[in-house]
Amino acid sequence: MKLVVVKLGGSAITDKKRKFTPRHGVIRNLARDVKKLSEKFQLILIHGGGSFGHPVAREYEIHKGLFSKKQTLGYSKVRYYMTMLNQVVLEQMIDEGVPAVTLHTSNITTARNGKIASMDIDRILRYLNLGMVPILYGDAVLDLERGFCIISGDQIVSYLALSLKPWKVVLGTDVDGIYSKDPKKDSEAELIPVFSISRIERIKAEKPEIDVTGGIIAKILEMRKVVEAGIPVVIGNITVKQGLLKLVKGETPKYTKIVV
Ligand code: IPE
Repeated sequence: MKLVVVKLGGSAITDKKRKFTPRHGVIRNLARDVKKLSEKFQLILIHGGGSFGHPVAREYEIHKGLFSKKQTLGYSKVRYYMTMLNQVVLEQMIDEGVPAVTLHTSNITTARNGKIASMDIDRILRYLNLGMVPILYGDAVLDLERGFCIISGDQIVSYLALSLKPWKVVLGTDVDGIYSKDPKKDSEAELIPVFSISRIERIKAEKPEIDVTGGIIAKILEMRKVVEAGIPVVIGNITVKQGLLKLVKGETPKYTKIVV
Protein backbone atom coordinates (compact mmCIF):
# COMPACT_ATOMS: atom_id res chain seq x y z
CA MET A 1 0.00 0.00 0.00
CA LYS A 2 1.14 3.54 -0.74
CA LEU A 3 1.93 5.70 2.27
CA VAL A 4 0.42 9.18 2.51
CA VAL A 5 1.40 11.68 5.21
CA VAL A 6 -1.46 14.09 5.92
CA LYS A 7 -1.48 17.32 7.88
CA LEU A 8 -4.82 18.37 9.28
CA GLY A 9 -4.17 22.09 9.69
CA GLY A 10 -5.34 23.87 12.81
CA SER A 11 -7.18 26.45 10.69
CA ALA A 12 -9.28 23.63 9.21
CA ILE A 13 -10.09 21.63 12.34
CA THR A 14 -10.56 24.52 14.78
CA ASP A 15 -12.25 27.89 14.74
CA LYS A 16 -9.16 30.09 14.90
CA LYS A 17 -11.22 33.05 16.13
CA ARG A 18 -12.64 31.21 19.15
CA LYS A 19 -10.34 29.72 21.76
CA PHE A 20 -10.66 25.98 22.27
CA THR A 21 -13.35 25.54 19.60
CA PRO A 22 -13.17 22.50 17.32
CA ARG A 23 -14.95 22.44 13.97
CA HIS A 24 -16.86 19.25 14.62
CA GLY A 25 -18.51 19.10 11.18
CA VAL A 26 -15.17 19.41 9.41
CA ILE A 27 -13.56 16.77 11.62
CA ARG A 28 -16.44 14.37 11.01
CA ASN A 29 -16.11 14.78 7.24
CA LEU A 30 -12.37 14.25 7.52
CA ALA A 31 -12.93 11.06 9.48
CA ARG A 32 -15.22 9.81 6.69
CA ASP A 33 -12.53 10.57 4.10
CA VAL A 34 -9.88 8.88 6.22
CA LYS A 35 -12.08 5.80 6.54
CA LYS A 36 -12.38 5.52 2.74
CA LEU A 37 -8.72 6.30 2.14
CA SER A 38 -7.55 3.79 4.74
CA GLU A 39 -8.89 0.98 2.58
CA LYS A 40 -6.41 1.87 -0.19
CA PHE A 41 -3.58 3.75 1.50
CA GLN A 42 -1.41 3.64 4.58
CA LEU A 43 -1.98 6.95 6.35
CA ILE A 44 -0.22 8.95 9.03
CA LEU A 45 -2.20 11.93 10.30
CA ILE A 46 -0.62 14.95 11.95
CA HIS A 47 -2.89 17.67 13.24
CA GLY A 48 -2.11 21.26 14.12
CA GLY A 49 -2.88 23.33 17.17
CA GLY A 50 -5.26 26.02 15.89
CA SER A 51 -7.15 27.79 18.67
CA PHE A 52 -6.13 25.09 21.17
CA GLY A 53 -2.34 25.30 20.85
CA HIS A 54 -1.37 28.71 19.54
CA PRO A 55 -3.03 31.09 22.05
CA VAL A 56 -1.65 29.21 25.06
CA ALA A 57 1.82 28.76 23.54
CA ARG A 58 1.92 32.48 22.74
CA GLU A 59 0.66 33.55 26.17
CA TYR A 60 3.46 31.65 27.92
CA GLU A 61 6.02 32.09 25.10
CA ILE A 62 6.70 28.37 25.07
CA HIS A 63 8.12 28.63 21.53
CA LYS A 64 10.96 30.81 22.88
CA GLY A 65 12.21 28.11 25.23
CA LEU A 66 12.34 28.11 29.03
CA PHE A 67 13.40 31.46 30.50
CA SER A 68 10.98 31.84 33.41
CA LYS A 69 9.60 29.44 36.00
CA LYS A 70 6.07 30.70 35.20
CA GLN A 71 6.28 29.07 31.78
CA THR A 72 6.21 25.58 33.24
CA LEU A 73 2.48 25.96 33.90
CA GLY A 74 2.12 27.10 30.28
CA TYR A 75 3.86 23.95 29.10
CA SER A 76 1.36 21.90 31.12
CA LYS A 77 -1.51 23.87 29.58
CA VAL A 78 -0.30 23.48 25.97
CA ARG A 79 0.01 19.73 26.53
CA TYR A 80 -3.42 19.64 28.19
CA TYR A 81 -5.28 21.55 25.47
CA MET A 82 -3.50 19.76 22.62
CA THR A 83 -4.49 16.45 24.17
CA MET A 84 -8.04 17.73 24.39
CA LEU A 85 -8.12 18.63 20.67
CA ASN A 86 -6.53 15.31 19.87
CA GLN A 87 -9.30 13.52 21.73
CA VAL A 88 -11.91 15.25 19.56
CA VAL A 89 -10.10 14.16 16.38
CA LEU A 90 -9.52 10.65 17.68
CA GLU A 91 -13.11 10.25 18.81
CA GLN A 92 -14.46 11.13 15.37
CA MET A 93 -12.03 8.72 13.70
CA ILE A 94 -13.09 5.91 15.99
CA ASP A 95 -16.79 6.75 15.47
CA GLU A 96 -16.28 6.36 11.72
CA GLY A 97 -14.57 3.01 12.23
CA VAL A 98 -10.99 4.15 11.64
CA PRO A 99 -8.46 2.15 13.73
CA ALA A 100 -6.64 5.34 14.70
CA VAL A 101 -4.11 5.53 17.50
CA THR A 102 -2.50 8.65 18.94
CA LEU A 103 1.22 8.83 19.56
CA HIS A 104 1.47 11.89 21.77
CA THR A 105 4.26 13.83 20.11
CA SER A 106 5.93 15.03 23.31
CA ASN A 107 6.26 11.44 24.56
CA ILE A 108 8.13 10.15 21.51
CA THR A 109 10.05 13.27 20.48
CA THR A 110 13.05 15.24 21.71
CA ALA A 111 14.02 18.59 20.21
CA ARG A 112 17.28 20.51 20.01
CA ASN A 113 17.09 24.28 19.45
CA GLY A 114 13.50 24.14 18.27
CA LYS A 115 14.06 21.30 15.77
CA ILE A 116 13.24 17.61 16.08
CA ALA A 117 16.38 15.82 17.29
CA SER A 118 14.85 12.36 17.62
CA MET A 119 11.50 10.65 17.28
CA ASP A 120 10.46 7.06 17.92
CA ILE A 121 9.53 6.31 14.32
CA ASP A 122 9.77 2.56 14.91
CA ARG A 123 6.67 2.82 17.10
CA ILE A 124 4.77 4.60 14.30
CA LEU A 125 5.83 1.94 11.79
CA ARG A 126 4.68 -0.86 14.07
CA TYR A 127 1.18 0.60 14.18
CA LEU A 128 1.19 1.11 10.40
CA ASN A 129 2.19 -2.51 9.94
CA LEU A 130 -0.76 -3.56 12.11
CA GLY A 131 -3.03 -1.75 9.65
CA MET A 132 -3.70 1.12 12.04
CA VAL A 133 -3.71 4.89 11.45
CA PRO A 134 -1.16 6.71 13.66
CA ILE A 135 -2.02 10.26 14.71
CA LEU A 136 0.50 12.82 15.95
CA TYR A 137 0.13 16.55 16.48
CA GLY A 138 2.06 19.80 16.85
CA ASP A 139 3.02 19.93 20.51
CA ALA A 140 5.18 21.29 23.31
CA VAL A 141 8.22 18.99 23.65
CA LEU A 142 11.40 18.78 25.70
CA ASP A 143 14.35 20.57 24.11
CA LEU A 144 17.94 19.57 24.94
CA GLU A 145 19.17 23.17 24.69
CA ARG A 146 16.14 25.31 25.53
CA GLY A 147 14.36 23.21 28.12
CA PHE A 148 11.29 22.99 25.96
CA CYS A 149 9.89 24.34 22.71
CA ILE A 150 7.01 24.02 20.26
CA ILE A 151 7.28 21.53 17.42
CA SER A 152 4.79 22.33 14.65
CA GLY A 153 2.75 19.74 12.82
CA ASP A 154 4.62 20.76 9.66
CA GLN A 155 7.98 19.94 11.26
CA ILE A 156 6.62 16.51 12.11
CA VAL A 157 5.32 16.09 8.55
CA SER A 158 8.68 16.89 7.01
CA TYR A 159 10.62 14.76 9.53
CA LEU A 160 8.40 11.76 8.86
CA ALA A 161 8.37 12.33 5.10
CA LEU A 162 12.17 12.42 4.94
CA SER A 163 12.42 9.28 7.06
CA LEU A 164 9.62 7.22 5.53
CA LYS A 165 9.57 8.52 1.91
CA PRO A 166 5.78 8.51 1.45
CA TRP A 167 4.08 8.43 -1.94
CA LYS A 168 2.61 11.85 -1.25
CA VAL A 169 2.34 14.58 1.39
CA VAL A 170 -0.96 16.46 1.73
CA LEU A 171 -1.11 19.66 3.75
CA GLY A 172 -4.76 20.31 4.52
CA THR A 173 -5.94 23.81 5.34
CA ASP A 174 -9.08 25.99 5.08
CA VAL A 175 -8.32 27.53 1.68
CA ASP A 176 -7.64 25.94 -1.71
CA GLY A 177 -3.88 26.43 -1.57
CA ILE A 178 -1.36 29.26 -1.78
CA TYR A 179 -2.75 32.49 -3.23
CA SER A 180 -1.21 35.55 -4.82
CA LYS A 181 -2.86 37.61 -2.04
CA ASP A 182 -4.76 36.82 1.15
CA PRO A 183 -7.92 35.09 -0.21
CA LYS A 184 -9.86 35.92 2.95
CA LYS A 185 -9.31 39.64 2.53
CA ASP A 186 -8.82 40.21 -1.19
CA SER A 187 -11.28 39.12 -3.87
CA GLU A 188 -8.57 39.46 -6.52
CA ALA A 189 -6.44 36.78 -4.87
CA GLU A 190 -5.58 34.03 -7.34
CA LEU A 191 -4.77 30.43 -6.54
CA ILE A 192 -1.21 29.52 -7.52
CA PRO A 193 -1.33 25.96 -8.96
CA VAL A 194 2.42 25.39 -8.82
CA PHE A 195 4.38 27.27 -6.19
CA SER A 196 8.14 27.40 -6.35
CA ILE A 197 9.91 27.64 -3.00
CA SER A 198 12.34 30.08 -4.59
CA ARG A 199 9.52 32.68 -4.59
CA ILE A 200 9.49 32.61 -0.83
CA GLU A 201 11.75 35.63 -0.34
CA ARG A 202 9.22 37.98 -1.92
CA ILE A 203 6.38 36.67 0.19
CA LYS A 204 8.55 36.89 3.29
CA ALA A 205 8.75 40.63 2.83
CA GLU A 206 4.97 40.94 2.43
CA LYS A 207 3.86 38.74 5.29
CA PRO A 208 5.48 38.87 8.70
CA GLU A 209 5.41 35.88 11.02
CA ILE A 210 1.85 35.39 12.15
CA ASP A 211 1.86 32.65 14.77
CA VAL A 212 4.14 30.79 17.17
CA THR A 213 5.24 28.34 14.50
CA GLY A 214 5.82 30.92 11.77
CA GLY A 215 2.64 30.65 9.65
CA ILE A 216 2.60 29.87 5.94
CA ILE A 217 6.22 30.83 5.30
CA ALA A 218 7.57 28.38 7.84
CA LYS A 219 5.17 25.80 6.41
CA ILE A 220 6.57 26.16 2.90
CA LEU A 221 10.21 26.34 3.98
CA GLU A 222 9.68 23.24 6.10
CA MET A 223 8.73 21.39 2.90
CA ARG A 224 11.86 22.34 1.00
CA LYS A 225 13.83 19.20 1.83
CA VAL A 226 10.78 17.02 1.25
CA VAL A 227 10.27 18.43 -2.23
CA GLU A 228 14.01 18.20 -2.92
CA ALA A 229 13.82 14.51 -1.98
CA GLY A 230 11.33 14.06 -4.85
CA ILE A 231 8.25 13.57 -2.66
CA PRO A 232 5.14 15.33 -4.04
CA VAL A 233 3.71 17.94 -1.65
CA VAL A 234 0.30 19.52 -2.18
CA ILE A 235 -1.61 22.10 -0.13
CA GLY A 236 -5.40 22.18 -0.39
CA ASN A 237 -8.75 22.70 1.24
CA ILE A 238 -9.91 20.01 3.63
CA THR A 239 -12.89 21.93 5.02
CA VAL A 240 -15.01 21.16 1.94
CA LYS A 241 -16.81 17.83 1.57
CA GLN A 242 -14.49 15.08 0.38
CA GLY A 243 -11.70 17.66 0.23
CA LEU A 244 -9.08 15.36 1.73
CA LEU A 245 -10.25 12.37 -0.31
CA LYS A 246 -9.88 14.28 -3.58
CA LEU A 247 -6.54 15.81 -2.65
CA VAL A 248 -5.02 12.42 -1.89
CA LYS A 249 -6.44 10.84 -5.03
CA GLY A 250 -5.62 13.87 -7.18
CA GLU A 251 -9.27 14.30 -8.16
CA THR A 252 -9.52 18.04 -7.71
CA PRO A 253 -7.89 20.74 -9.85
CA LYS A 254 -7.91 23.16 -6.91
CA TYR A 255 -4.69 22.87 -4.96
CA THR A 256 -1.13 24.13 -4.90
CA LYS A 257 1.73 21.82 -5.67
CA ILE A 258 4.98 22.88 -4.06
CA VAL A 259 8.12 22.57 -6.19
CA VAL A 260 11.75 23.56 -5.65
C1 IPE B 1 1.17 24.08 16.59
O1 IPE B 1 1.19 23.20 15.52
C2 IPE B 1 1.17 23.35 17.88
C3 IPE B 1 1.08 24.24 19.06
C4 IPE B 1 0.96 25.54 19.02
C5 IPE B 1 1.12 23.59 20.34
P1 IPE B 1 0.97 23.77 14.05
O2 IPE B 1 1.80 25.00 13.85
O3 IPE B 1 1.20 22.65 13.11
O4 IPE B 1 -0.57 24.18 14.11
P2 IPE B 1 -1.47 24.89 13.01
O5 IPE B 1 -1.83 23.87 11.99
O6 IPE B 1 -0.67 26.02 12.43
O7 IPE B 1 -2.65 25.38 13.80
